[in-house]
Amino acid sequence: MIETHDLTKTYKNITAVNHLNLNIPQGVIFGFIGPNGAGKTTTIKMISTLLEPTYGDAIVNGFSVTKEPDAVKSQIGYMPDFFGVYDDMKVWEYLDFFAAAYKIEKQRRIGIIDDVLVLTDLESKREDMVDNLSRGMKQRLCLAKTLVHDPKVLLLDEPASGLDPRARIEMRELLKELKRMGKTILISSHILSELEDFVDTIGIIERGTLLASGNVKSILQQIRANRRFVITVSDQVETAHLLLRDLPEVQHIEREGNTLVVEVHDSPDGDDPDLLKILVLNDIRVIAFHEEETDLEDIFMTITQGVVA
Ligand SMILES: Nc1ncnc2c1ncn2[C@@H]1O[C@H](COP(=O)(O)OP(=O)(O)OP(=O)(O)O)[C@@H](O)[C@H]1O
Ligand SMILES: [Mg+2]
Repeated sequence: MIETHDLTKTYKNITAVNHLNLNIPQGVIFGFIGPNGAGKTTTIKMISTLLEPTYGDAIVNGFSVTKEPDAVKSQIGYMPDFFGVYDDMKVWEYLDFFAAAYKIEKQRRIGIIDDVLVLTDLESKREDMVDNLSRGMKQRLCLAKTLVHDPKVLLLDEPASGLDPRARIEMRELLKELKRMGKTILISSHILSELEDFVDTIGIIERGTLLASGNVKSILQQIRANRRFVITVSDQVETAHLLLRDLPEVQHIEREGNTLVVEVHDSPDGDDPDLLKILVLNDIRVIAFHEEETDLEDIFMTITQGVVA
């Protein structure tokens, strides 16, 4: 649904986006992650046809951003990272303005505005002035605006930035609803935990270069050489240490009191190592056993290590 082919943008002496290749299938939520200045906004603007690539191309639902920008525009809803100022406009007028810009007839606009207000939970604000809305409401209104022409593809640049926890959750629920509606969504963020539980795949960008992409699990496997297990025994910690140390897959053991942190070489087939089995077979009483979780935050830090100065 969204593909980029060596998409590149150079400003004078900065390459903001460097031969970026993305492939986001239909109905997928793709989390585009990277630190400040990584090139997220520049990429999203090129896919939205607002910025011309220096090199390469992006294809949205079969249309090229460089050759068929108008066709691309009809396919996408773009939510910028910055909400402009709209003096003296009511919420419904704001939406009507954008619907009119998409050449939707007046008759149909009324129903569409109702629908997007319901979807974004802003029905009660219909007659309010845009400038008087809270930040969270403005953000939802901005998303409502991107939906008036029922685009298949949504390009959302940090839609949850500056929102409080409740507003973030509301935004997340709204995005899940849009996914249920079958939209293909590219969403950027530098806050990883924000995306972790609902994106299907992620891409990590740093200094214009895609460092890794795929589903969260496969990225984990790509970068994770070792897995760490935390094991607490009730006694015989010394024996446990010796038993585990002799296993071929065990790389390293740290000991603290009755707890052992065992670092294990990840097997290519992803099988769990036999740590627990060995201990139990030797009558060692294990009171706690768990694998240390690696989350998106860890992935990000690992991947950008050495790249970020
Ligand atoms: N109009 C411009 N002229 C010159 N350089 C620019 C311009 N726009 C962006 N850049 C540079 O391109 C790089 C990428 O910027 P971009 O805004 O795409 O990053 P970002 O990932 O969206 O960052 P953030 O998380 O801060 O929003 C940065 O080094 C930035 O300084
Ligand atoms: Mg940005």
